[in-house]
Amino acid sequence: MTAIQSLADTARRQFPSIIRADGPVYLDNPGGTQVPQSVPDAMMAYLLQDNANVHGAFATSARTDAVVHEAHAAVADFLGAAQPEEIAFGPNMTTLTFALSRALGRELREGEEILVTQLDHDANIAPWLLLARDLGLNIRWAEVDPADCTLDLDSFQAGLNERTRIAAFTYASNAVGTVNDVGLLTRLAHEAGALVFIDAVQYAPHGPIDVQQIGCDFLTCSPYKFFGPHAGVLYTRIDHSERLRAYKVRPASDAPPYKWETGTQSHEAMAGTTAAIDYLASIAPTAPNLNRRESLVAAMTAIKEYEQGLTQHLCEGLAQVPVRVYGITEVDRLSGRLPTFALTSDHHTPRQLAEALGRRGYNLWDGNYYALALMERLGLEENGGALRIGLVHYNTHEEIDRFLADLRSVIIGRTTHPVPSVEAVESAEHTAQG
Ligand SMILES: Cc1ncc(COP(=O)(O)O)c(C=O)c1O
Repeated sequence: MTAIQSLADTARRQFPSIIRADGPVYLDNPGGTQVPQSVPDAMMAYLLQDNANVHGAFATSARTDAVVHEAHAAVADFLGAAQPEEIAFGPNMTTLTFALSRALGRELREGEEILVTQLDHDANIAPWLLLARDLGLNIRWAEVDPADCTLDLDSFQAGLNERTRIAAFTYASNAVGTVNDVGLLTRLAHEAGALVFIDAVQYAPHGPIDVQQIGCDFLTCSPYKFFGPHAGVLYTRIDHSERLRAYKVRPASDAPPYKWETGTQSHEAMAGTTAAIDYLASIAPTAPNLNRRESLVAAMTAIKEYEQGLTQHLCEGLAQVPVRVYGITEVDRLSGRLPTFALTSDHHTPRQLAEALGRRGYNLWDGNYYALALMERLGLEENGGALRIGLVHYNTHEEIDRFLADLRSVIIGRTTHPVPSVEAVESAEHTAQG
C-alpha cells in the first residue's frame, strides 16, 4: 500500500460512523462530513469538565477562555491567518455572512456595486442581493460557462468597474466541484478597488488554504464540512475588523476576535473545531519539528493528492454509465475540480436515483443544494436539480467501484421515470391497438 492509499486507511479507523459494519457509504460529504472520535470526545470533555461562560473569576470560566482562545488559534492555523484575532466563530457561514454584509453596508452608498457569481451557493449571493435591495446598490453577475461549469473570466472582469465595492465569489462549487483561481480573482477585484469576500465552505476539506497568499479581505467556512461540529468561522483581515462597525449589544466587546461574535457562542463546538483541526494536522505525512500550521499544509496537500486519484477514478467510471455529468471531465483538467460531481439521467429524476441508491446503502443528495443560480443556468432547477456525489479523504476506490456498479444497475436495470400518466398509458394502448 502506498503512503497516499494508507492516508484513507488511517483516517477511516478514526471515524466510528464509517467503520460501522452496517453503516452507509458516505457520498453526501458536501452537505456535511463525518467526525473522528476525537471531536465528540473534546466536546463532551468541555461540557462535562469546563462548561461555563467566558471572562468569569472562577476556574471553569478561565478554562472556557482558554478553549475559546485555542479554537481561534486553531482556525487561524487552518486558514493561514496572521493572528487568532482575525477569526470569528458563529452558528454557521450563512449567519456570519449576513452579519458581515450588514456591517459592510454601513460603508456603502446608493449606486455602488457588488459583484456576485452564478457558481455560488445562495449563502454568498442572497446576503448581497438583500443588501443591494436595502441600500439601492447595483448587483453585477459573473456568469458560468455551462459547457464545463467554470466561471467565465471575461464576464467576471466585465462585472468589475470603479463603482464595484465588493466582489463575492466561491473558492469551489458545492454542486459541480469547480475550483476557482481565487488568487487571480482577488487580484482582479482589488485592482478595481473592490473588497473580496470568499466562500471557502466547500474547498476547506479538500486542500490547504492560505488567506495571506490569496490576499482576500474576508473568507468563511464551516467546521461541519471539514470533520468538525456544526459551526461557522469567518476570517476578517485585522485592519477591516478594527475599522468596521458590527451590530453588537452595548456591553459586549467590539474588539477582534469578538467583533462578529454575538451572544454566547457554542464553546463545545469551538472545542470540537480545535479537535477537528488537530485531527487533520495529525494525518500529515510524518516530518519532525513541524508546527501545527506546517502540519496542516502537509496534511491538506496529501489529502488533495489522494483525492485527485478519487476524482479521476470516479470521473472515468461515470463516463461508462449513461448519465450526464456536469463540470470538468477531461482527465488533464481534473485538478480544476473537487471530487464533487452533479449528474442527471434521462430516465430517472435525481430524487428517484437518490432513493434507489439510498436503499442500496449510499447517502447522496439530490436537488439544488442551494446552488440555485447555477441550477437555473444549467436548466436543471425545474426538473429536480441533479444527483450529487461528493467524496472526501475517507472515501476509497473500492467504494467508488461498488457505487458505480450499483448506479449502473439502477440506471440500466430498470426505468422508473418518467412515470407514465393514466392518459399516456391509455393513449399508448390506443396507438398500439391502432
Ligand atoms: C459553498 C457553500 N457555501 C455556504 C454554505 C452554507 O454554509 P452554512 O450551512 O455553514 O451556513 C454551504 C452549505 O452547504 C456551501 O456548500
